[in-house]
Amino acid sequence: MYIKLSPSILAADYGALRESVRLVERAGADYLHIDVMDGCFVPNITVGPPVVKALRASSSLIFDCHLMVAEPDKYVDAFAEAGADIITVHAEAARHLQRTLSHIRSLGKRAGAALNPATDISALRYVLDDLDMALIMTVNPGFGGQKFIPAMTKKVADLRAVLGERKVDIEVDGGITLENLGEITSAGANVIVAGSAVYRAEDPALAVRRFKGLEK
Ligand code: DX5
Ligand code: ZN
Repeated sequence: MYIKLSPSILAADYGALRESVRLVERAGADYLHIDVMDGCFVPNITVGPPVVKALRASSSLIFDCHLMVAEPDKYVDAFAEAGADIITVHAEAARHLQRTLSHIRSLGKRAGAALNPATDISALRYVLDDLDMALIMTVNPGFGGQKFIPAMTKKVADLRAVLGERKVDIEVDGGITLENLGEITSAGANVIVAGSAVYRAEDPALAVRRFKGLEK
């Protein structure tokens, strides 16, 4: 399966975001992972639609917006308008998940649902046909640079089995490195988020090429 790389700007220099995005775009990244945190669903605060809009003006990467917010319905339209391509909401936060996912699709965007490590994949069982992407959190959301939770490999494999023939992407997010990449893609993940492993690498462009299997 073709693996897509979605570098997370959470680990980039926020004072030089445009350059950080350009760097991974030139190196061959597929998506740009934008972590949106509201200080309520997660104990941290990051960026909102204005930043997405500003970056949109200078990048043609697919913008993969991960909404770690308590009330996603309030913000979906604003992110769509700002230039998001994929909008992912947390199943734990969306009170009417099916409604939120169909709304995202009605805006012409790809709909994603994210699960915290402790949330069972059964939370997605009845919305599989409303999903373009499932995001399996491989750390507890809120911060970059955390350690991958090994039990998540089985969770990815279980979800891939449940998806069967459906063309739904499985994205993994948190603590993904070149060392555990093989394990998680073999389990069935095909969209890889990497924050620290790209932006904190000595040579971020080389890290992108390595994740993409273009260089050893
Ligand atoms: C965590 C975020 C992740 C984070 C991943 O809440 O959702 O996207 O940026 O960072 P790394 O790859 O450093 O774990
Ligand atoms: Zn994320």
